[in-house]
Amino acid sequence: MTEFVAHQYDDFQTILEALNKERKYLNYGYRKSRSDSYEQKQEQLCTLVYDAAEIQPHHILIDVGFGSGEQDFLLANRYQFAALHGFNIASSQVEYAQGRAAALGLKKLHFHHGQAESMAVMASGQADRVMAVECAFYFDRSRFYAEAARVLKPGGLLVLADITFSDRLKAFTRLADDLERVGYLGKNQESWEKHFHTRRLQTIHRETIPGAQQTVGILLRMILKHFRWKDRQAYRTLWKMAVSTQITVIGFLTRLIRYDLIVLEKK
Ligand SMILES: C[S@@+](CC[C@H](N)C(=O)[O-])C[C@H]1O[C@@H](n2cnc3c(N)ncnc32)[C@H](O)[C@@H]1O
Repeated sequence: MTEFVAHQYDDFQTILEALNKERKYLNYGYRKSRSDSYEQKQEQLCTLVYDAAEIQPHHILIDVGFGSGEQDFLLANRYQFAALHGFNIASSQVEYAQGRAAALGLKKLHFHHGQAESMAVMASGQADRVMAVECAFYFDRSRFYAEAARVLKPGGLLVLADITFSDRLKAFTRLADDLERVGYLGKNQESWEKHFHTRRLQTIHRETIPGAQQTVGILLRMILKHFRWKDRQAYRTLWKMAVSTQITVIGFLTRLIRYDLIVLEKK
């Protein structure tokens, strides 16, 4: 499962670089106003998480599932912090982020190839904040919550922009490994509350629907405009993403899928 997801995001990084897309966010975004552009919405989802994390200049931060690292360059531009460690399983995204940080001389950004569920390079109690923007549904959640608690200082925060199934789809999540990873809120909450107090649980699906629907259109345009036969693998990845995103939008509209901002404090 993890290997399959890594390949998918490796492919996606190749596509974004081939298209020369300047801002390489990979999230649905958070709409504040009707006039927001797609990329403004994506930035706003990241800053929603960063603001909820109450980042301070002495903080050691961890960003899991950082995509191409775009969100961490935004963070470095707008917020004061001591150091950031990113973890991502897609090697091409890690290489891209490392290269960009080196070119910009941003020595406090450290991008690691590795799983959010096992951040071995981090010492126990080293971090002040762990952040996960639209990615925890890929993780083995019980291992991830335990690992986030291990690396955080007492009172440290885990902040997530997270997609899960509603409790009404409890039985459905048992059908496949990837659905089980997404999980349903009741089960995920029971799992994180072994290590964390829930400080905030705010539904944000209304603000994320516009960007999610726009994502489907963007993926379909990429497929139609840029498809070449030799890129069949990339083509399949784009189709899968377009279909799964459209299903997610329908899930948001019917409230069978939730999008939440979650702030957890280490016990
Ligand atoms: C939907 S993208 C979100 C990227 C980024 N957070 C953003 O908002 O633009 C999900 C990211 O999570 C990463 N990922 C998936 N499973 C992971 C795992 N087990 N550990 C670390 N990263 C993972 C993927 O490689 C991808 O970069």
